[in-house]
Amino acid sequence: MDRGLPTRLHDLGTLPGGVAARSAPAVSSCGDASHDARNGETVSVSIAPTVSLANGAAAPVIALGTWPMMGSEATELIGRALELGYRHLDTAEEYGNEEAVGEAVRASGLPREEVFVTTKFNARWHGYDLAQQAFEASAARLGVDYVDLLMIHWPNPWLDSYGAAWKGLIKLRDDGKVRAVGTSNFKPAHIDRLLAETGVAPELNQIQLDPTLARLETRAYHEAHGIVTGSWSPLGRGGAFLGEKNITDLAEKYGKSPGQIVLRWHLDLGLVIIPRSTNPDRLAQNIDLFDFSLTDDEVASITALDQGENVARDSDTEGH
Ligand SMILES: NC(=O)c1ccc[n+]([C@@H]2O[C@H](COP(=O)([O-])OP(=O)(O)OC[C@H]3O[C@@H](n4cnc5c(N)ncnc54)[C@H](OP(=O)(O)O)[C@@H]3O)[C@@H](O)[C@H]2O)c1
Repeated sequence: MDRGLPTRLHDLGTLPGGVAARSAPAVSSCGDASHDARNGETVSVSIAPTVSLANGAAAPVIALGTWPMMGSEATELIGRALELGYRHLDTAEEYGNEEAVGEAVRASGLPREEVFVTTKFNARWHGYDLAQQAFEASAARLGVDYVDLLMIHWPNPWLDSYGAAWKGLIKLRDDGKVRAVGTSNFKPAHIDRLLAETGVAPELNQIQLDPTLARLETRAYHEAHGIVTGSWSPLGRGGAFLGEKNITDLAEKYGKSPGQIVLRWHLDLGLVIIPRSTNPDRLAQNIDLFDFSLTDDEVASITALDQGENVARDSDTEGH
């Protein structure tokens, strides 16, 4: 069947654009769960596999969404997530929580290289030198020497300057200050312009994506250009689709929650997911996705909920 992209999690060697997956150091293999005793407590740890981005950085396929968590509450919850096995954190200048994210990484005791940190910068940094200043500001707030993945948060095309910001990002990667460069909320037309100006595609484009907004055309474009797709609001912020009969039936079949079925749908499409939860049970559920997978027909039945690209927020008219 054609699901838009032929990728499955257990075929990680064929992720979008032909990028190969590999296990990060000290990471259990795909699907394994182990137990880790910390603070006298036994915690079930499930570590996600990684996808190799175009320049070789290995990004865990589950990122913890950190918006709109703030301050010590964010640090505590992110710490709990790291105990559960999350190894990819998604933050942004806009979220106002980079300090809390950095504090959680340090408090975890995990080596810096075991936690993949994604952040993003706002419109005020859309320029070649400005993008480099944006990195310095984010790195200072995070308390890190390098960022794993730095993104332009929104294209803000009316400024006509995302191309200059992109050149600044490429310089940061060349200088070893960021491991990977990406975009968020970029449409194919925006990426066409990056390619025309630099010949360099984003390694990952993070876009709004859920079963009702399956982004078939955008994902096909990404695949054609070796771009990994990241799904923000992968659960549609607790969307009504979680109550759809085909999803609740699959939840019963696999002994999982509807949210886990939807997250597994993203993974079976080869996407990097960015779920967010402040609920301890759902935080654990959202990384416990590797002891089952959906059949092709089951994936297709969820993709059939798609309402088309027009449901997405329009990055030609909004952004920050
Ligand atoms: N690049 C961008 O422009 C952009 C834009 C928006 C968001 N993001 C990123 O994407 C992350 C996630 O997006 P989001 O927060 O908008 O939406 P989301 O992750 O799709 O949904 C979060 C909501 O779903 C609930 N939830 C979590 N796990 C669940 C489960 N297993 N079953 C049922 N409900 C569940 C949460 O409630 P509880 O907390 O009660 O569990 C919360 O209300 C953000 O934190 C941010 O990092 C990026």
